[in-house]
Amino acid sequence: MATQTIVLIGFMGVGKTSIGTFLARKTKVNFCDTDRMITKSQAATPQEIFQTHGEVYFRQVESKVLAQALTQHGIISTGGGIVELKYNLQLLRQSKATIVYLYGDLSHLMPRLLPNHKRPLIEHNSSRDLFELWQRRDKIYRSIADLIIDTTGKRNNVIAAEIKLGAALWQRHELSQKEIAISSQILSLERKIANLNHQKQILNQNLINHRYIDVINRGFKRGSR
Ligand code: S3P
Repeated sequence: MATQTIVLIGFMGVGKTSIGTFLARKTKVNFCDTDRMITKSQAATPQEIFQTHGEVYFRQVESKVLAQALTQHGIISTGGGIVELKYNLQLLRQSKATIVYLYGDLSHLMPRLLPNHKRPLIEHNSSRDLFELWQRRDKIYRSIADLIIDTTGKRNNVIAAEIKLGAALWQRHELSQKEIAISSQILSLERKIANLNHQKQILNQNLINHRYIDVINRGFKRGSR
């Protein structure tokens, strides 16, 4: 993992920054986030840049920052709109980085997005516009991704483990994208089975405790007759 670069792409609110930070910390590699790089270079947040200079200017800055980020090793988290410029798609395709699409169903992303007014595209778009944006971008994310990871209902540590495994296999050309998707499904099923087994053990223990209490109670009743 030391010399490998992983670029996280995906819709707003899917958790690219938090998952990227988590994975970079766990694997002890460098982490960078294009939105943070933009904020640093422009001394303004994406929201402020949208307001003062508009989206076209923001995209130009984002493009420059992406080119710069791709010169580094480690984990790179990108803004959801990174796929808006064809030039960015070229940059991503030409890079040696593994492009990981963190997929999130819009119905699962919406509750995370709505209370958040830090995102300009959320403030100014209706739910229908957002759905169209999500649908359009979903196709582009898929077209440039080396790996697609479904984040629905998974914790960050599980998603990070799937990225790590998938990216390692992908880089070594050991498995195809489809096989990696299946192995990550197996991984998550194994985790669910382990969880269910644990719950079964707890239930069994509770049952034993109840029977034990029952026997003691009956013993008391007999004794008091
Ligand atoms: C944007 C997503 C944001 C940020 C900007 C534009 C988009 O990043 O780059 O507000 O066009 O989807 P996140 O995906 O981290 O929210």
